[in-house]
Amino acid sequence: MSRKIYVFDTTLRDGEQVPGAKLNLAEKLEVAQQIAKMKVDMMEVGFPSSSQGDFEAVRAISRKIGQDVWIAALGRAVEADIDCIYESIRAAENPLIHIVLGSSGVHVAKKFKKTPEQVIEMGVGAVKYASSLLPQVQYSLEDASRSEFEYLWQTIEAVVKAGATIINVPDTVGFAIPEEFGKLIYRINDRLKNLDPRVMLSVHCHNDTGLATANTLAAVKNGADKVECTINGIGERAGNTALEEVVMGISLHPAYYGGHTTVDSKKIYETSRMVSATMGLDIQVNKAITGENAFAHSSGIHQDGLLKSKDVYEIMDPQTIGAPAMEIVLTARSGRHAFMHVTKRLGFDIPEVSVAAIYQQFLTMADAKKEIYDNDVLTLLKNSGVPSSATSPELWQLLDYQLQVTGGLPVATVRLVKGEQEVVSSRSGSGVIDALYGAIMEAIGAPIELIDYRINSLSRGKGSLGKVTAQIRCDDQLFSGKAIEQDVMRASALALINAVNKMLLK
Ligand code: KIV
Ligand code: ZN
Repeated sequence: MSRKIYVFDTTLRDGEQVPGAKLNLAEKLEVAQQIAKMKVDMMEVGFPSSSQGDFEAVRAISRKIGQDVWIAALGRAVEADIDCIYESIRAAENPLIHIVLGSSGVHVAKKFKKTPEQVIEMGVGAVKYASSLLPQVQYSLEDASRSEFEYLWQTIEAVVKAGATIINVPDTVGFAIPEEFGKLIYRINDRLKNLDPRVMLSVHCHNDTGLATANTLAAVKNGADKVECTINGIGERAGNTALEEVVMGISLHPAYYGGHTTVDSKKIYETSRMVSATMGLDIQVNKAITGENAFAHSSGIHQDGLLKSKDVYEIMDPQTIGAPAMEIVLTARSGRHAFMHVTKRLGFDIPEVSVAAIYQQFLTMADAKKEIYDNDVLTLLKNSGVPSSATSPELWQLLDYQLQVTGGLPVATVRLVKGEQEVVSSRSGSGVIDALYGAIMEAIGAPIELIDYRINSLSRGKGSLGKVTAQIRCDDQLFSGKAIEQDVMRASALALINAVNKMLLK
């Protein structure tokens, strides 16, 4: 039978330890609500004894969403920290006190300067105190993967007898190897289930050698009941285990892992973008599952294969994580098959006699621009006099734009055309992009919401090309548009228009 693997999100505790990612109370609440929508089982939302701000944020989250998800907060094995945790989470329906105490030789001897027995005593005292306040207590053996096994077990046995209900085995410094970590979890699980089968076994892996997900999945395979992770894998140093990777890894191989999670994977993409934007932490473009290129295909051979059948190169449908549909990125390596696919998607039927010449023009353009997006193809086809088919919708094109930044608020004016309809619109905004996007949205007049805007430089120097990604939501569906131009304002306008056109084509 498939067992449930509990998912514990620690984006707002371990993830928030990333330098510069600190959030204010309102932002923490917003992120917590978004993560709760994904239906994780448990959420760790702070270290309340670290500051008054953290305490208040944990308390506010417990009050706001503590009915939907278990709320955990972390502290050291001292009564003052445990009191702080208790006060901050007690409004939640399922509050969880999380205590951390080192178990490796270096922690015991060098950090605490205590004997191993004294450290166990400290842990037992803390667990007894915590369980006098709340029924659910998680004990983390910090640096467990570098701890001596019999000492690790001695500690686990003592804290379980003292009342710990979850034992968490962290690979704190990202030192573990999947095969070895799997064996460690197997040995602990074997003894733990004999000691008290109600106690949950959890893991928490860091990514210092890029093995956090592999170690976590090895632990699941070997009996772990619960996984700790963060959105986009953010966390201390090289980060934590990425929630999206573990959830999708288990869901792609349920028989192998003999388990499942109850996370709503359709919310992954939106949550990933939201966490990235709120914390100001970019997602690596090739990041598994949530990176910009995770469902983008650029090689000619791959594009051709995908167009014949998606499963040739696609192991999961982007929709399962709520991402926009897979993308064929046109480059100079794209074959005719891919180019013709995009022109058809945009509603054009190139007459057979013109195909070779237009494809050649496309290649020249692709050599100059690296990547070709819908607005480029539209311009190419319109300039070549190819008529759009009568049945496909007319698409928006940018004719020109102006920006005025002469004191006061910037003002943008855009001139757009769709078929015979030409629209001019002007708007002011708090910044140039705000003004530009305000003007475009007014001209288009559709009920869309901008949910992400990113700009990257594709090379160095002031002549560099700027790549812009804009993502919009309409009727609960996401559409992403990209554009590359040397003029980054123009690229910004085109990226938004490309997203709007994708929506019209849908
Ligand atoms: O990395 C670690 O050991 C931790 C613990 C608090 C679980 O973050
Ligand atoms: Zn950690």
